[in-house]
Amino acid sequence: MHKTVADIVSKKNSGKKISVITAYDYSMATLCDRAGIDILLVGDSAGMVMLGYENTIPVTMDQMCLFTEAVSRARQSSLIVADLPFMSYQASITDAIANSGRLVKAGADAVKLEGGRPMAETIQAIVDTGIPVMGHIGLQPQTTMLSQGYKVQGKTAEAALRLVEDAKALEEAGVFSITLEMVSHEVVKIITETVHVPTIGIGSGTSCDGQVLVIHDMLGMYDKLKPKFVKRYLSLSKDIQDALESYKKDVEDGKFPTKEHLFSMEKSELEKLRKEIES
Ligand code: KIV
Repeated sequence: MHKTVADIVSKKNSGKKISVITAYDYSMATLCDRAGIDILLVGDSAGMVMLGYENTIPVTMDQMCLFTEAVSRARQSSLIVADLPFMSYQASITDAIANSGRLVKAGADAVKLEGGRPMAETIQAIVDTGIPVMGHIGLQPQTTMLSQGYKVQGKTAEAALRLVEDAKALEEAGVFSITLEMVSHEVVKIITETVHVPTIGIGSGTSCDGQVLVIHDMLGMYDKLKPKFVKRYLSLSKDIQDALESYKKDVEDGKFPTKEHLFSMEKSELEKLRKEIES
Protein backbone atom coordinates (compact mmCIF):
# COMPACT_ATOMS: atom_id res chain seq x y z
CA MET A 1 0.00 0.00 0.00
CA HIS A 2 1.40 3.38 -0.94
CA LYS A 3 1.53 6.48 1.25
CA THR A 4 -1.58 8.63 1.50
CA VAL A 5 -2.13 12.34 1.87
CA ALA A 6 -3.07 11.65 5.52
CA ASP A 7 0.33 9.96 6.07
CA ILE A 8 2.07 13.07 4.72
CA VAL A 9 0.01 15.48 6.84
CA SER A 10 0.67 13.42 9.97
CA LYS A 11 4.42 13.91 9.49
CA LYS A 12 4.12 17.57 10.50
CA ASN A 13 5.42 17.93 14.06
CA SER A 14 6.42 14.23 14.05
CA GLY A 15 10.10 15.09 14.30
CA LYS A 16 10.73 13.60 10.83
CA LYS A 17 10.92 15.79 7.72
CA ILE A 18 9.09 15.02 4.48
CA SER A 19 11.24 14.10 1.44
CA VAL A 20 10.02 15.15 -2.00
CA ILE A 21 11.77 14.77 -5.35
CA THR A 22 10.60 15.41 -8.89
CA ALA A 23 10.14 12.38 -11.14
CA TYR A 24 8.98 12.24 -14.75
CA ASP A 25 9.79 8.78 -16.09
CA TYR A 26 9.48 5.11 -15.16
CA SER A 27 13.15 4.28 -14.52
CA MET A 28 13.96 7.25 -12.28
CA ALA A 29 10.63 7.00 -10.46
CA THR A 30 11.41 3.34 -9.70
CA LEU A 31 14.67 4.37 -8.00
CA CYS A 32 13.07 7.28 -6.11
CA ASP A 33 10.28 5.04 -4.85
CA ARG A 34 12.75 2.32 -3.88
CA ALA A 35 14.77 4.92 -1.92
CA GLY A 36 11.69 5.55 0.22
CA ILE A 37 11.09 9.15 -0.91
CA ASP A 38 7.75 10.30 0.56
CA ILE A 39 6.42 12.22 -2.45
CA LEU A 40 7.21 11.88 -6.17
CA LEU A 41 6.37 15.27 -7.68
CA VAL A 42 5.61 15.11 -11.39
CA GLY A 43 6.59 18.76 -11.71
CA ASP A 44 6.04 20.93 -14.75
CA SER A 45 9.82 21.49 -14.51
CA ALA A 46 9.63 18.46 -16.83
CA GLY A 47 9.15 21.02 -19.58
CA MET A 48 12.67 22.30 -18.99
CA VAL A 49 14.67 19.24 -17.93
CA MET A 50 12.90 16.61 -20.06
CA LEU A 51 11.63 18.59 -23.05
CA GLY A 52 14.18 21.41 -23.34
CA TYR A 53 11.81 24.40 -23.06
CA GLU A 54 13.22 27.69 -21.71
CA ASN A 55 10.59 27.73 -18.93
CA THR A 56 7.43 25.89 -17.83
CA ILE A 57 4.95 28.01 -19.84
CA PRO A 58 4.66 25.72 -22.92
CA VAL A 59 3.92 22.54 -20.91
CA THR A 60 0.58 20.95 -21.84
CA MET A 61 -1.91 18.72 -20.04
CA ASP A 62 -1.20 15.88 -22.50
CA GLN A 63 2.51 16.03 -21.61
CA MET A 64 1.81 16.11 -17.86
CA CYS A 65 -0.52 13.11 -18.20
CA LEU A 66 2.14 11.14 -20.08
CA PHE A 67 4.78 11.84 -17.40
CA THR A 68 2.29 11.05 -14.62
CA GLU A 69 1.33 7.72 -16.21
CA ALA A 70 5.00 6.71 -16.46
CA VAL A 71 5.68 7.61 -12.82
CA SER A 72 2.56 5.84 -11.61
CA ARG A 73 3.65 2.59 -13.30
CA ALA A 74 6.81 2.69 -11.16
CA ARG A 75 5.24 3.65 -7.85
CA GLN A 76 5.05 1.14 -5.01
CA SER A 77 5.09 3.24 -1.86
CA SER A 78 5.47 6.99 -2.51
CA LEU A 79 2.62 9.49 -2.87
CA ILE A 80 2.34 10.97 -6.38
CA VAL A 81 1.60 14.68 -6.78
CA ALA A 82 1.30 16.07 -10.32
CA ASP A 83 1.55 19.71 -11.39
CA LEU A 84 -1.30 21.41 -13.19
CA PRO A 85 0.54 23.22 -16.04
CA PHE A 86 0.19 26.89 -17.02
CA MET A 87 -3.35 27.79 -18.16
CA SER A 88 -4.84 24.43 -17.23
CA TYR A 89 -6.52 25.92 -14.13
CA GLN A 90 -6.40 29.72 -14.32
CA ALA A 91 -9.11 30.37 -16.91
CA SER A 92 -12.00 28.72 -15.08
CA ILE A 93 -12.87 26.51 -12.14
CA THR A 94 -14.41 24.06 -14.60
CA ASP A 95 -11.04 23.73 -16.37
CA ALA A 96 -9.28 23.31 -13.03
CA ILE A 97 -11.55 20.48 -11.92
CA ALA A 98 -11.52 18.72 -15.30
CA ASN A 99 -7.73 18.90 -15.61
CA SER A 100 -7.18 17.79 -12.01
CA GLY A 101 -9.39 14.81 -12.84
CA ARG A 102 -7.24 14.00 -15.89
CA LEU A 103 -4.09 13.93 -13.74
CA VAL A 104 -5.76 11.66 -11.19
CA LYS A 105 -6.91 9.32 -13.99
CA ALA A 106 -3.28 9.31 -15.19
CA GLY A 107 -2.18 8.06 -11.76
CA ALA A 108 -1.69 11.11 -9.49
CA ASP A 109 -2.92 11.00 -5.89
CA ALA A 110 -3.00 14.79 -5.67
CA VAL A 111 -2.38 17.87 -7.82
CA LYS A 112 -0.27 20.98 -7.25
CA LEU A 113 -1.01 24.45 -8.54
CA GLU A 114 0.67 27.83 -8.16
CA GLY A 115 -0.89 30.88 -6.55
CA GLY A 116 -2.00 32.39 -3.26
CA ARG A 117 -5.28 34.07 -2.30
CA PRO A 118 -6.54 34.50 -5.91
CA MET A 119 -6.44 30.71 -6.28
CA ALA A 120 -8.28 29.92 -3.02
CA GLU A 121 -11.72 29.49 -4.62
CA THR A 122 -10.33 27.22 -7.35
CA ILE A 123 -8.47 25.11 -4.79
CA GLN A 124 -11.59 24.76 -2.67
CA ALA A 125 -13.57 23.60 -5.72
CA ILE A 126 -10.97 20.95 -6.61
CA VAL A 127 -10.78 19.76 -2.99
CA ASP A 128 -14.59 19.61 -2.87
CA THR A 129 -14.53 17.12 -5.75
CA GLY A 130 -12.33 14.88 -3.58
CA ILE A 131 -8.97 15.62 -5.19
CA PRO A 132 -6.23 16.63 -2.71
CA VAL A 133 -4.32 19.81 -3.60
CA MET A 134 -0.80 20.96 -2.75
CA GLY A 135 -0.41 24.76 -2.88
CA HIS A 136 2.66 26.56 -4.23
CA ILE A 137 3.58 30.11 -3.24
CA GLY A 138 6.71 32.25 -3.16
CA LEU A 139 8.46 32.10 -6.51
CA GLN A 140 5.84 30.77 -8.92
CA PRO A 141 7.71 29.75 -12.08
CA GLN A 142 4.58 29.91 -14.27
CA THR A 143 4.01 33.62 -13.51
CA THR A 144 6.59 35.25 -11.20
CA MET A 145 9.28 34.32 -13.67
CA LEU A 146 7.47 36.23 -16.41
CA SER A 147 7.24 39.46 -14.42
CA GLN A 148 10.20 39.40 -12.03
CA GLY A 149 12.64 36.69 -13.07
CA TYR A 150 14.36 34.38 -10.61
CA LYS A 151 14.11 36.38 -7.35
CA VAL A 152 13.87 35.53 -3.66
CA GLN A 153 10.35 36.25 -2.38
CA GLY A 154 9.20 37.82 0.90
CA LYS A 155 12.17 40.10 1.53
CA THR A 156 10.19 43.13 2.75
CA ALA A 157 7.75 43.14 5.68
CA GLU A 158 4.90 43.94 3.27
CA ALA A 159 5.76 41.10 0.85
CA ALA A 160 6.27 38.73 3.77
CA LEU A 161 2.86 39.58 5.22
CA ARG A 162 1.24 38.87 1.84
CA LEU A 163 2.92 35.46 1.81
CA VAL A 164 1.69 34.65 5.33
CA GLU A 165 -1.83 35.66 4.26
CA ASP A 166 -1.53 33.56 1.10
CA ALA A 167 -0.49 30.52 3.16
CA LYS A 168 -3.43 31.00 5.54
CA ALA A 169 -5.85 31.36 2.61
CA LEU A 170 -4.53 28.15 1.04
CA GLU A 171 -4.92 26.27 4.31
CA GLU A 172 -8.47 27.56 4.66
CA ALA A 173 -9.19 26.48 1.06
CA GLY A 174 -8.22 22.94 2.02
CA VAL A 175 -4.69 22.27 0.71
CA PHE A 176 -2.94 19.33 2.37
CA SER A 177 0.49 20.98 2.09
CA ILE A 178 2.16 24.09 0.71
CA THR A 179 5.31 24.35 -1.41
CA LEU A 180 7.36 27.46 -0.60
CA GLU A 181 9.79 28.32 -3.40
CA MET A 182 12.69 30.72 -2.81
CA VAL A 183 11.16 32.44 0.21
CA SER A 184 13.41 34.16 2.77
CA HIS A 185 13.93 31.77 5.64
CA GLU A 186 12.54 34.04 8.36
CA VAL A 187 9.15 34.15 6.60
CA VAL A 188 9.24 30.37 6.03
CA LYS A 189 9.61 29.86 9.78
CA ILE A 190 6.62 32.10 10.48
CA ILE A 191 4.46 30.36 7.85
CA THR A 192 5.49 26.88 9.03
CA GLU A 193 4.58 27.79 12.62
CA THR A 194 1.31 29.44 11.55
CA VAL A 195 -0.32 26.82 9.31
CA HIS A 196 -1.29 23.31 10.38
CA VAL A 197 -0.46 21.65 7.06
CA PRO A 198 3.13 20.69 6.14
CA THR A 199 5.29 23.20 4.28
CA ILE A 200 7.67 21.87 1.64
CA GLY A 201 10.62 24.11 0.82
CA ILE A 202 12.76 24.61 -2.25
CA GLY A 203 15.42 27.25 -1.75
CA SER A 204 13.58 28.23 1.42
CA GLY A 205 15.91 27.21 4.24
CA THR A 206 15.65 24.73 7.06
CA SER A 207 12.36 25.52 8.82
CA CYS A 208 10.01 23.80 6.38
CA ASP A 209 8.40 20.48 7.26
CA GLY A 210 9.93 18.95 4.14
CA GLN A 211 12.23 19.62 1.19
CA VAL A 212 11.85 19.23 -2.56
CA LEU A 213 14.49 19.30 -5.28
CA VAL A 214 14.37 18.85 -9.03
CA ILE A 215 16.01 15.45 -9.56
CA HIS A 216 18.15 16.64 -12.49
CA ASP A 217 19.60 19.40 -10.27
CA MET A 218 20.54 17.14 -7.36
CA LEU A 219 22.01 14.49 -9.65
CA GLY A 220 23.97 17.09 -11.63
CA MET A 221 22.19 16.32 -14.90
CA TYR A 222 20.95 19.78 -15.96
CA ASP A 223 23.66 22.30 -16.68
CA LYS A 224 21.60 25.31 -17.81
CA LEU A 225 20.79 26.49 -14.26
CA LYS A 226 22.77 26.05 -11.04
CA PRO A 227 20.60 27.49 -8.26
CA LYS A 228 22.52 28.33 -5.06
CA PHE A 229 20.10 26.30 -2.95
CA VAL A 230 20.72 22.99 -4.74
CA LYS A 231 22.92 20.37 -3.12
CA ARG A 232 24.51 18.24 -5.83
CA TYR A 233 24.76 14.61 -4.78
CA LEU A 234 26.27 13.41 -8.08
CA SER A 235 27.79 14.83 -11.27
CA LEU A 236 25.88 12.60 -13.64
CA SER A 237 26.25 14.85 -16.70
CA LYS A 238 29.99 14.32 -16.61
CA ASP A 239 29.74 10.60 -15.87
CA ILE A 240 27.22 10.04 -18.68
CA GLN A 241 29.24 12.16 -21.12
CA ASP A 242 32.40 10.15 -20.28
CA ALA A 243 30.52 6.86 -20.73
CA LEU A 244 29.13 7.94 -24.11
CA GLU A 245 32.55 9.00 -25.35
CA SER A 246 33.99 5.61 -24.27
CA TYR A 247 31.16 3.81 -26.09
CA LYS A 248 31.74 5.83 -29.29
CA LYS A 249 35.47 5.04 -29.15
CA ASP A 250 34.86 1.32 -28.49
CA VAL A 251 32.49 1.11 -31.49
CA GLU A 252 34.88 2.99 -33.76
CA ASP A 253 37.88 0.90 -32.66
CA GLY A 254 35.96 -2.41 -32.92
CA LYS A 255 36.30 -3.01 -29.16
CA PHE A 256 32.55 -3.36 -28.69
CA PRO A 257 30.87 -5.80 -29.00
CA THR A 258 33.20 -8.64 -27.95
CA LYS A 259 32.67 -12.43 -27.66
CA GLU A 260 30.74 -12.07 -24.41
CA HIS A 261 28.04 -10.03 -26.14
CA LEU A 262 27.41 -12.51 -29.00
CA PHE A 263 24.60 -15.01 -29.60
CA SER A 264 25.63 -18.27 -31.39
CA MET A 265 23.91 -21.16 -33.19
CA GLU A 266 24.45 -24.86 -32.51
CA LYS A 267 27.52 -26.18 -34.39
CA SER A 268 25.42 -28.91 -36.07
CA GLU A 269 22.92 -26.31 -37.29
CA LEU A 270 25.73 -24.20 -38.69
CA GLU A 271 27.08 -27.28 -40.54
CA LYS A 272 23.61 -27.94 -41.94
CA LEU A 273 23.36 -24.34 -43.10
CA ARG A 274 26.74 -24.46 -44.80
CA LYS A 275 25.81 -27.68 -46.64
CA GLU A 276 22.52 -26.16 -47.77
CA ILE A 277 24.29 -23.13 -49.14
CA GLU A 278 26.94 -25.27 -50.93
CA SER A 279 24.33 -27.48 -52.60
O1 KIV B 1 7.84 21.79 -11.24
C1 KIV B 1 8.54 21.59 -10.25
O2 KIV B 1 9.53 20.86 -10.29
C2 KIV B 1 8.19 22.26 -9.01
C3 KIV B 1 9.22 22.26 -7.92
C4 KIV B 1 10.29 23.21 -8.26
C5 KIV B 1 8.61 22.54 -6.61
O3 KIV B 1 7.16 22.82 -8.91
